[in-house]
Amino acid sequence: MIDTFKTLLGDAGVLTEPDDVAPYATDWKHTVRGAPACVLRPRNTADVAAVMRIAHERRIVIVPQGGNTGLAAGAVPDASGSQVVLSLSRMKAIQNVDPVGMTIEAEAGCILKTAQDAAADVGRLLPISLAAEGSAQIGGVVSTNAGGINVLRYGMARQLVLGLEVVQADGTVINGLRSLRKDNAGYDWKQLFIGSEGTLGIVTAAVLRLMPRPKLVVTSLLAVADPAAALRLLKLMQDELGETINAFELISGLSVKLVEEQFGQRAPLAGNGWFVLIEASANLGGLREAFENVLSRALEQAIATDGVIAESQTQAAQLWAIRERITEAELKAGRSVKHDVSVPIPALPAFLADAEASVSSGFPGARINAFGHAGDGNMHFNVLVSVDTDSAALNRSVYDLVAIHGGSISAEHGIGSYRVAELAHYRAGAELSIARLLKRSLDPKGILNSGKILGMEK
Ligand code: FAD
Ligand code: MLT
Ligand code: ZN
Repeated sequence: MIDTFKTLLGDAGVLTEPDDVAPYATDWKHTVRGAPACVLRPRNTADVAAVMRIAHERRIVIVPQGGNTGLAAGAVPDASGSQVVLSLSRMKAIQNVDPVGMTIEAEAGCILKTAQDAAADVGRLLPISLAAEGSAQIGGVVSTNAGGINVLRYGMARQLVLGLEVVQADGTVINGLRSLRKDNAGYDWKQLFIGSEGTLGIVTAAVLRLMPRPKLVVTSLLAVADPAAALRLLKLMQDELGETINAFELISGLSVKLVEEQFGQRAPLAGNGWFVLIEASANLGGLREAFENVLSRALEQAIATDGVIAESQTQAAQLWAIRERITEAELKAGRSVKHDVSVPIPALPAFLADAEASVSSGFPGARINAFGHAGDGNMHFNVLVSVDTDSAALNRSVYDLVAIHGGSISAEHGIGSYRVAELAHYRAGAELSIARLLKRSLDPKGILNSGKILGMEK
């Protein structure tokens, strides 16, 4: 098998040495350690198609991998030694940036930050933004239907994908790299591949929507007593500032403390409850004055207890660094069990209170690192635990409450290999049946990232 792939991709396109393969074998959190038979590094779509034809013929399981920043361990192989990682990293060209049509076309391996910068160079905004944007790739972002900090205004990756090129399990290339805003000619098949975590096809390139680049940006950190106050603040902000709000991030006191402990970075305001980081932007004047007025009202009405507005881009970046470093601070702090959950927005305070009570009573000593995209109803209810904590029991205690509050066990990170059992438990019935039907239709031999999302097909 290795020789066949070397003939196809050349020596540089096939990694087999343990040191070369190691970075591709474990996930960002180092929770899962796989054993790939080799790592393939195609140069173009034709290479990917040829790899898939061989894999299909010989029933070789292919695990697509982008920047390997995923938080569901979806991009790493299992420990069998037979699965092959397909890294898209060499396919990183930006094919086109169009400031009039407001689109960007890029290969799957293009780093998200590189694509953002290319859009900025022509005065446009690629609004998908997340703390891992310096490593995450367009193919990974599309395949996880990534969210991030700007979903409130611009939607998830799905809302920004106009066209896709995909290689199917048998090597067939579907070229749908169209940049059309309106296209009702038949089924919108690309939706199947967005968020399917490499289990239905390999994304090789995408056309994404761009937005006007706002000239005025206001960034503010506020202290609030609790999540209920944060939702009152959200309503006030939306009433007064409307669609100018890009981000509304809720951050617990413990999250801020973790960043201070691990990075020595302090929040520039006092607070003994929760914090909200808000970003608003616009192109027409008056935004800052309007924001200051709303902030004054929030303080007068005791919705917020304190607040600062960044005076410069540097200060804004410092406020964002507090938020964006939470995940790394959590990793440095020791073992954690992540819950990337969403509930209907009005249910957030009750869910957080119930989940905190349940974890505190069931898992003494556990520390709750809760933060996230509250404006979307998405919280990262991550729990710092000791080495002997039963993570399955912890998951159950959180996810049962997610279900009671009408939520989802994965808001944006996906199922990967972390949440396979939980998906089967919480999404039983017809929804799983249709998922299996799609999987069998598009990947009848079960060679695309098998074991992920739906588990091993029987
Ligand atoms: P990978 O990790 O390489 O892969 C992710 C999944 O997609 C795997 O199942 C893989 O098999 C599949 N895949 C990758 N490339 C392809 C392809 N070309 N074709 C088919 N399948 C493919 N996520 C959010 O949604 N919002 C956040 O705010 C956020 N913040 C993060 C912050 C940090 C610090 C970190 C480490 C991660 C964060 N993530 C977040 C998770 C992660 O960055 C995103 O899921 C990102 O989209 C993954 O991109 P990637 O290129 O690293 O994909
Ligand atoms: C984030 O929003 O920073 C990541 O999605 C969250 C995480 O670490 O759980
Ligand atoms: Zn997130």
